[in-house]
Amino acid sequence: MRHDDLALAVIGGTGVYRIAELEHVESHLPETRYGFPSGPVRVGMLGGKRVAFLARHGEEHGVPPHKINYRANLVALQMIGASRIVALNTVGGITERFGPTVLALPDQLIDYTWGRISTLSEEPGTDVLHVDFGDPYTPGLRAQILAAAQRAGVALVDGGCYGATQGPRLETKAEIARMRRDGCDLVGMTGMPEAGLARELGLQYACLSIVANWAAGCSGDAEITMAEVLANVETASSGIPPLLRAILAG
Ligand code: HPA
Repeated sequence: MRHDDLALAVIGGTGVYRIAELEHVESHLPETRYGFPSGPVRVGMLGGKRVAFLARHGEEHGVPPHKINYRANLVALQMIGASRIVALNTVGGITERFGPTVLALPDQLIDYTWGRISTLSEEPGTDVLHVDFGDPYTPGLRAQILAAAQRAGVALVDGGCYGATQGPRLETKAEIARMRRDGCDLVGMTGMPEAGLARELGLQYACLSIVANWAAGCSGDAEITMAEVLANVETASSGIPPLLRAILAG
């Protein structure tokens, strides 16, 4: 099941349940020490390189953000051979540069989630890990993605702070106003504990945020609908296959 030549793993978020361009796809459902991942890991070829894809919420979007087995998802990818992960996260935009349909590569995060298993140190008897998390996304991988975006001509906003909320409901205007004061540019529900666990597992990990809507109160009073979210994710996602190809070619 392990692929020693696996070049990249991609985790898909809301609205991204497969990579249509993946060829010669095989599927794996590895049982990890934390149980099963959200769904099958699809392994196939893209631009002549082997790539793994996992839909974070399951391929039918059946698993809400707070119920995702983040540990099983990451360990499953690692068992299959992943060392480098591009995590796609659908988000709301808070500050000016991060309007709907923007692709962004945040460089910081703030964790507002609660009650999620957020470490490999959870079980009694496991080593207590205090990993450095000052730069939550692997700087070298971010640099590769930025260079790839330039080569591919894909517009990508460099930097920004991702605020991870509990969900599954969207936020109140007051919550978003507080997040803005805290320095958040983006808001999503799945950025943590995934990034922290990736660091504990020694994986290279970067978050590619897909802005689906203005966060609550950031653009008038219009209700945020799933239809709006999915339509904007679809528009923004057109940049993802060329970006992935350029990362793989880099
Ligand atoms: N808030 C939190 N998560 C999200 C949003 C939002 O506005 N849009 C897409 N995911």
